[in-house]
Parts: sequence; structure tokens; C-alpha cells
Amino acid sequence: MLKSSQKNGQGSVMQCAEDAGKIRRLEQEKQNLAKQNEIQQKALVHLERKLARFEEVKEQRDWLLDEMTKKIGELGRFQSELFRSERLSAIGEISARIAHDMRNPLAIIKNTVELLKIKHSAKIPPELLDLFATIDGASSRLVFQLDDVLNFVRSSPLSCEECSLLETLDSALEKTIIPDEVKIVRPANDVHLVCDGEKIEAVFTNLIMNAIQAMENRGTVVISFEDCGDAVTFSVEDSGPGIPQDRMEKIFEPLYTTKSRGTGLGLPAVKTIVARHLGSISVSNGPTVFSVSLPKI
Ligand SMILES: Nc1ncnc2c1ncn2[C@@H]1O[C@H](COP(=O)(O)OP(=O)(O)O)[C@@H](O)[C@H]1O
Ligand SMILES: [Mg+2]
Repeated sequence: MLKSSQKNGQGSVMQCAEDAGKIRRLEQEKQNLAKQNEIQQKALVHLERKLARFEEVKEQRDWLLDEMTKKIGELGRFQSELFRSERLSAIGEISARIAHDMRNPLAIIKNTVELLKIKHSAKIPPELLDLFATIDGASSRLVFQLDDVLNFVRSSPLSCEECSLLETLDSALEKTIIPDEVKIVRPANDVHLVCDGEKIEAVFTNLIMNAIQAMENRGTVVISFEDCGDAVTFSVEDSGPGIPQDRMEKIFEPLYTTKSRGTGLGLPAVKTIVARHLGSISVSNGPTVFSVSLPKI
């Protein structure tokens, strides 16, 4: 009995020692695991930081890519703009020369017809007079088209002096063929300003011709002047069909025309002349009104 209890006592001591060993091992393992956990935690934080940085770099890269695409687009547009303006200036030079050279023979044709009519009026049969009128009309049209080209391409310096706007308008009207069924309402007042009279006359001619053409030779054109203190404003209103909204932006672009015999150079020339006088031009519909504002000096 005693022996077995001794044995039992020895057994439980051994068991205790074994358990204590296990506990130590387990604690050791726990510590190791905690350490590993700490290391992994640090690695995770490190990774998260790297990921955040990566995201940042990715965003920057996307932004740079966007910017680059935009710049390439801009460069493309700039190149084609440059190409277009170079081409336009070459075309401009040639057209100016041709237009200039053609104006004299045309004037000779017109004057000769006039002379023939005056000198031989008694002997000219009516059919021939009709033919003369056709020659006259066609050469006038050509003169207008050539003037459109010349007004657009010629960039002679402004020659400014004190001008009466009414006299300038009357001079433009004298040189314009007004169809019988078109009524021109001139302003009742006059305004004065310092400007290049010849160029402002071309502005009137262009706006009035456009108005007459838009009304298809029938209707009313009302011209009015306003003195606004530092500036003068004049407007040309017509009773034509107006300008569709989607064309509004295009009408001032060189070579844009909706007419079979148009040059598309009238309004661009008008815009350039007004800009060179440091003025502005606007257009509105219902009724169609082109308004020009020019500083007095
Ligand atoms: N008063 C107007 N009413 C309607 N459309 C107009 C008027 N003035 C100009 N336009 C439009 O603007 C275009 C450009 O005019 P413009 O530069 O003078 O060239 P063009 O008279 O040779 O066509 C015209 O073809 C026409 O479509
Ligand atoms: Mg025109």
C-alpha cells in the first residue's frame, strides 16, 4: 500500500513537472506568436503605406496621362491652326494681287459701257441697252466681290480723322445699287468720331449689301446712330428671314458663305475693321440687327 502511494506521489510530481514544462513552452510559443504578430503588423502597416503611396503615384500618373493627352490635342490644334493661317496668308497674298489687277480692267469695261451709252444713246436699240445693263450688273457684282477680297486681305494702316458718320454712310449708299423694292431708312441724326472713313464706309457697304441680299431684294433696311458719350453705336436692321442660331458663330469665319456667289469674306473684314478701331460688333435676330460700337477716338 505504502509503496503504491509513494508511486502515486512520484507520478503526480512528474505530471506537475510535465505540465509546467508544457505551460512554459506554450507561453514561449505565445510570446513568439505575439512577436511574429507584431512583426507582421509592422509589415502590414508598411505595406498599407506603400499601397497608399502606390495609389498616389497611380493618380499622379493618370493626371499626367490626362495632361499629356490634352497637350497633344492642343498641339495638334495649334499645328492645324498654324497650317491654316499660313495657307490663308498665302492665299490672301495671291488673291490680293489678282483682285487688285482685275479691278482696273473691270473699271475700264464699266466705263466703256457707260461711254457707249452716253455717246451713242440715240442709235442704240433697246435690246442692246438690255445687254449693256447685263454687262454693267455683272461687272458691278465682280467689283463687289473683289472689294470683299481686298477689304479682307489688305491690312493697310488706319488713316484716322474726324468723320461725320452720316456722310460716310451716304458715301457708301451712293456706291451701292439699291434695288427698287428695297427701302433704306437713313438715320435722322448725325454723330461724329475719329475713324478711318474709307474703312468704316466698307463696313456700311458690307452690312447693307448683306441685308439686301438676305431680303432677296425686297424689304426695308433701317440704319440708326446713337451717341453714347465716349463711343458711338450704329446698327443696320433688315426685314429679312434672320440668321439660324447654329449659323451665328460661323458667319464671322473667313470663307463661310451660304450664297452661291458669296465670298464669305464680308463679315470677317467688317469684324477686323471694327476690331482695329477697338470697337465691337454684335448680331441679334427678330429682326436681324448688326450693331457696331466704336470708341470716339
Ligand atoms: N443680314 C443678314 N441676314 C441673314 N444672314 C446674313 C446676314 N448677313 C450675313 N448673313 C450670313 O452670313 C454669311 C456670311 O456673310 P459675309 O461674310 O458677308 O459673306 P457673303 O455675303 O459673301 O456670303 C452670309 O452668307 C449669310 O449666310
Ligand atoms: Mg457679304
